[in-house]
Amino acid sequence: MSNLDHINEENLPKHIAIIMDGNGRWAKQRGKLRVFGHENGVEAVRRTVENCAKLKIDFLTLYAFSTENWKRPKIEVQTLMRLLVASLRKELKTLNDNSIRLNAIGNLDFLPSKVAKELNEVILKTSNNKGLTLTLALSYGSREELKSAVKAISAKVKNNIISEDDIDETVINTHLYTHDLPDVDLLIRTSGEHRISNFLLWQIAYAELYFIDVFWPDFNEQHLVDAIINYQNRERRFGKTSEQLG
Ligand code: FPP
Repeated sequence: MSNLDHINEENLPKHIAIIMDGNGRWAKQRGKLRVFGHENGVEAVRRTVENCAKLKIDFLTLYAFSTENWKRPKIEVQTLMRLLVASLRKELKTLNDNSIRLNAIGNLDFLPSKVAKELNEVILKTSNNKGLTLTLALSYGSREELKSAVKAISAKVKNNIISEDDIDETVINTHLYTHDLPDVDLLIRTSGEHRISNFLLWQIAYAELYFIDVFWPDFNEQHLVDAIINYQNRERRFGKTSEQLG
């Protein structure tokens, strides 16, 4: 019996988002360069995607590169981009074999052209898959996302495409990078830090937050199962009382 079998399939989080943190510290603990941590982080990505697909989770969103990450040393940024291109190339077949649809959110115009090309190709070639939607947040920042949405909505009001009174949560949602994704149900952050770091601020309004004290390259099936079982034992009230939930 696999660890995954301990999960109640009736009450799965529809959308899991993960802040994959701790690659650098994992490498440092082993006296290695940060790059080594990222390389092993890719393996944890593979495992997690595979386990979420097996569990029939509908949406998995991974914080792979933030707008702030561009400020890291050039060599580290280059490595992350190289790993991304290599993984996209290598995993296309696996994505299709497992009916996984790739998606990306963020300010993708900032990505090097080689990365953008590979990314768009894999997005296109997996676009008909009906299983897990795997979203990579790349050059992503939530405040920047909200700022772009406000600008786009303002322009529509200014040009009389919509009126100010039409602006509601649905209109805001449709102007976010995540317009085709549901709200996050479970947000996991590894490495023991208890921060959101500018990730999906609007979309996690009612998410259950789960912080785990392992570095991302060590995140395994058991950790994912623990996070989901913990989620299943919580009562999600969405502002109501326990009695109202019946
Ligand atoms: C956080 O660790 C991790 C990242 C900024 C990048 C995550 C990237 C990968 C796992 C590899 C490539 C991704 C894909 C989707 C193939 P950190 O460097 O902030 O660690 P630290 O906090 O210990 O310094």
